Amino acid sequence: MNVSIFQTAGQLITGSGSVAKVGEEVAKLGGKKVLIITDKIIRETGLVNKVIEPLQEQALTVDIIDDVIPEPPFEILEEMAAKIIDKGYDVFVGVGGGSALDVTKLLAVMMTNTDDVRDLVGIDNIKNPGLPFILIPTTSGTGSEVTYNAIFTDNRDKVKKGIVSTYLLPNIAIVDAELTLTVPPAVTAATGMDALVHAVESYTAIRANELTDGIALQAINLISRSLRTAVHNGRDLKAREDMAMGSLLAGISLGNAGVGAVHALAYPLGGKFKVPHGVANSLLLPYVMKYNVVANLEKFAEVAKAMGENVEGLSTRDAAELAVHAMATLSQDVGIPTSIKEVGVSAEDIPSLAEEASKIDRLLSNNPRALNVKDIEKIYTEAYGETKVALEV
Ligand SMILES: [Fe+2]
Repeated sequence: MNVSIFQTAGQLITGSGSVAKVGEEVAKLGGKKVLIITDKIIRETGLVNKVIEPLQEQALTVDIIDDVIPEPPFEILEEMAAKIIDKGYDVFVGVGGGSALDVTKLLAVMMTNTDDVRDLVGIDNIKNPGLPFILIPTTSGTGSEVTYNAIFTDNRDKVKKGIVSTYLLPNIAIVDAELTLTVPPAVTAATGMDALVHAVESYTAIRANELTDGIALQAINLISRSLRTAVHNGRDLKAREDMAMGSLLAGISLGNAGVGAVHALAYPLGGKFKVPHGVANSLLLPYVMKYNVVANLEKFAEVAKAMGENVEGLSTRDAAELAVHAMATLSQDVGIPTSIKEVGVSAEDIPSLAEEASKIDRLLSNNPRALNVKDIEKIYTEAYGETKVALEV
């Protein structure tokens, strides 16, 4: 067995209503002056009040900064850091989707490191641990609350860049499904499918191990059984609870086993065509799975089982292929486009997309089946055609 390190948030606090514990947890961390980091939309929904009240009950001083924007650029980190650095905050609480949580992670370490934030890009370039921080997701998808990386946009070359460090893991993640009840259907679908991609990719990844396998399969099971209900009947708390837990488990598995070709092929769609991350992943998942299936029939057969498909009497190969169809059906049922045509890609764009995706070796080297630029082009071409024809096996 290969040597591996399993890392996640220092503590996981889960369950409906768990956000009420944030006050006592900040107090335990020694916090006296707390900063909530979020965006304007989350602030307007009133969700932030569910965080403020328990903090005030502990007689803590609480401030809010709501400057986070989607796909945050490095500049926003610098502006926000400049506003807060001399205010004497001792604990940060990040509340929101992936962007708010990623910004919180970086601001925590920017309080204790003087480097230019762009110099932190890459693996293990953060020298000192940051301020203690708590992350509270309000969507079920990114898994950012349990991963040790954060993604930012570099406006100089219009490329997304990742910062990877153990210091980006929070002291505590609080995952409360009640905070996700008002997420609109399209966002629920895209973020939920992103979480499912995290689970499937990390389960079948080269770096997967026994620790991550069980966690990933449970995530696949929870998300597959509840995503449709969460999208089409968002007030269903049980479905939202399954999604919150499924997303958390998928994030833990992703944080330790990594992801693969779906993410690699999705990034150029995000960069060039501004396709939301979850939509790009979901759209590509069945096509990449179809390509990957032969590299690990047993595991893809397990994916079908975890999705609740009836695999009785099927060969391992047929069961594995059933997983591909089940994934395409789920994606369609929650309203995700089935062709990259629908998100603005034309056939002439495919070679340059493939060229760009082929450079993301960090992800491609973790994919269960090796791919070269021609293989990637073929997958994009299939995703360009009609789903039913392309997915026929
Ligand atoms: Fe993702």
